[in-house]
Amino acid sequence: MDSVDNVVALRRALLAWYDREARALPWRASPGSSPPDPYPVLVSEVMLQQTTVAAVIPYFERFLKRFPTLESLAAASQQEVLQHWAGLGYYSRGRHLHAAAQAIVADGWPQDERALRALPGVGVYTAAALAAIAFNQPATAVDGNVERVVARLCAVTDPLPGAKPALGALARRLAAFERPGDFAQALMDLGAVVCTPRAPKCGLCPWAGSCEGLRLGVAEALPRKAMKPERARRFGAAFALFRGDQVYVVRRPQKGLLAGMRGLPTTEWRLVPWIAAEALAAAPVAVAYADAGEVRHVFTHFPLALRVYVGIAPTDFEGDGDFLPSGADLGLPTVFAKALERAAAARQP
Ligand code: ADE
Repeated sequence: MDSVDNVVALRRALLAWYDREARALPWRASPGSSPPDPYPVLVSEVMLQQTTVAAVIPYFERFLKRFPTLESLAAASQQEVLQHWAGLGYYSRGRHLHAAAQAIVADGWPQDERALRALPGVGVYTAAALAAIAFNQPATAVDGNVERVVARLCAVTDPLPGAKPALGALARRLAAFERPGDFAQALMDLGAVVCTPRAPKCGLCPWAGSCEGLRLGVAEALPRKAMKPERARRFGAAFALFRGDQVYVVRRPQKGLLAGMRGLPTTEWRLVPWIAAEALAAAPVAVAYADAGEVRHVFTHFPLALRVYVGIAPTDFEGDGDFLPSGADLGLPTVFAKALERAAAARQP
């Protein structure tokens, strides 16, 4: 704990490092400048909730091109917003961001961390990041990266997730009143670039001189993590029904996983593998199906093995879904994009 007693020196050292080393990111103001427009900050923080910076950048740029202002996002249809979210996963984030934009257009921007938390899809981390980055308030956004930095700096050896509150409290003691937005992002960059999970670059770290973990030779081993039980795999089958170059897609129910998104028709996703005959009985239409193999996808709460069946739609087949060009970007969630790719490959002679 001694390490955070020299907080003023630590803050200065980190900000000086950030002035030199800040990553140039499309939603970010350069170090030392005034806070950026809160709208792109909101979009980026929601996208970054479960996705890496490198993966977010192209989606962020495409999203901002289509929805350049808060008003344009609020006025768009949910379907279009979700189509621009496709591939990022965790689609409820896209729905919440859309709802948040509508709430802000109606009521104005919430002005502090507490009020920001009332926005749809804005949790503790995102509210703190927005307060610091977009509104220059001394809030500390604590995610896994920040927990790692603090665990090492203070040599906290209690395992996560039990150590979370203690690590959060230590991180909050570091929060700066001076340049809070830069400080929050400096801490993110330090965790992402220098204080990495494996092989941390302690030689480049502005905090190396104060780091208890480094002094004790345990930095890389921290934070310790309690073992997590593995989630059971689920099994399902998806049906790719082609009509020429078109494929049959349905809209998923408004409740449940991938709610409201387009997808291939599927069986239920259950814990017991499907026997082919049993799966095929759940197909949208009874035709001859070819087994195109299995695609795997990991959702937050379980891994899925999805067997893909390919068939030709009878000319008189009419379901509740639509036939859409199978080669186009249909804005399908990743699991269905993978399944369709597999189906299309299986059709090639
Ligand atoms: N992760 C979450 N928010 C971030 C941000 N603003 N910059 C970099 N990484 C982040």
